[in-house]
Amino acid sequence: MVWPNTAERDADGNLAIGGVDVAALAEVAGTPLYIYDEATIRAQCLAYREGLATGVENAVVTYAAKAWLSHALVEILVDESVNIDVVSGGELYVALQSGMPPERITFHGNSKSVAELEMAIEAGVGSIVVDNFDEIDRLYALSVAAAAPIPVMVRINPGIDAHTHDYRKTGIVDSKFGLGVQNGDAERAVARSLDNDMLDLLGYHAHIGSQIFETETFTAAVDAVVDFAVAMRERFGVTPRKLSPGGGFGVAHTPDEEAPDARSYAAAVAQAYAAAIATSGFDSAPTLVIEPGRSIVANAGVAIYRVDARKAIPGVRTYVSVDGGMADNIRPALYGAVYSAELVAAGIDGPAGTSVTLAGKFCESGDVLIRDVELPPVQPGDLIAVPAAGAYCLAMASNYNMALKPAVVMVAGGRARTVQKRESYQDLMSREVTTNQYLSVKHSDQRAG
Ligand SMILES: Cc1ncc(COP(=O)(O)O)c(C=O)c1O
Repeated sequence: MVWPNTAERDADGNLAIGGVDVAALAEVAGTPLYIYDEATIRAQCLAYREGLATGVENAVVTYAAKAWLSHALVEILVDESVNIDVVSGGELYVALQSGMPPERITFHGNSKSVAELEMAIEAGVGSIVVDNFDEIDRLYALSVAAAAPIPVMVRINPGIDAHTHDYRKTGIVDSKFGLGVQNGDAERAVARSLDNDMLDLLGYHAHIGSQIFETETFTAAVDAVVDFAVAMRERFGVTPRKLSPGGGFGVAHTPDEEAPDARSYAAAVAQAYAAAIATSGFDSAPTLVIEPGRSIVANAGVAIYRVDARKAIPGVRTYVSVDGGMADNIRPALYGAVYSAELVAAGIDGPAGTSVTLAGKFCESGDVLIRDVELPPVQPGDLIAVPAAGAYCLAMASNYNMALKPAVVMVAGGRARTVQKRESYQDLMSREVTTNQYLSVKHSDQRAG
């Protein structure tokens, strides 16, 4: 379903989410506004856990923080026994500050700095997923001073071509992510990790892409990871404790798109895993880790915009311009992502809809949220709701045109709470240095000396 589980319309056609009237909420919280439905997030967490339990006993759901990260979300994840994966010092910092226990954090990324690795080691994260040989070298250097062996997994690139947008493919041979299985890099990374007693090799990880709908693609990822683990046992006698086929479970962004539900995805992965482990010769199943990001939060989130202007170009199209756009949701411009929209106050017997283009307010012709969407004749001041806006929208939000990042509210049980404040104009000045602060920079001849 494209809308949050609790979305409903009253007898007059007014939208409510989590028991909260959306128009009234927009009145007090302003727009653009991102509303997250707590019940949907919790239901997704539970569905993943239940789905995994249909196939394996030792399984962990790890939320990919890149989809959207906030203190309130982390609290929910902790409560729902869902771990977290981070890809930067910033995500790691927010996850830790928000109460995620370090041992439940996985640190990913193809370009981790020494400072980020140090931060992760000091915090005591559950695993660092190594992505290239330079990172292994860095971990070697850092392991000298480490108090305990550093828990690592090796991210393999299995060469699986997932059916998704090119920008969202990560498991193909020509990818910046992971160490190739076919060209022997993954095996060499395992050998190098095993060479150093201060690296504790937990297992292997693959992530083949994002917004993937076919469960068979995940089955292929499971098989690839288990096959690799078997090959490494044969080669080096090493038994993994954790294996992960990553995340990437697709969601519906429009009502006519269909996606498997979270439980089905997890059950398909768990059952494929159980079957692969049964023939692997491992005495017991290593812990299975899945990493859904988008599918935990996408359909929980709804973006609310206010219409600022309407411009009809006879015989061409009608633009309906709203008070947000690519600064809070860049996905249509970046990937050609398609969304749907409805009026918050839909009315019951209102006039029939016509096709309009929902345009953002930012200074790019490409700032179009939805190219052709059927809407009743909207007027400036009307509120428009865009569902399935919970993932990779705010996470990629920018201050383009000095846009203020929107406020975020979490709704549950008829109550709404602000979980992220709207930025203010003062915030926009907070990084500006308004007095001259010269840096002491060496000349090139001084540097050479
Ligand atoms: C390593 C890893 N795990 C999990 C995810 C989450 O993917 P999704 O949000 O599509 O589930 C990503 C996304 O890029 C990723 O890179």
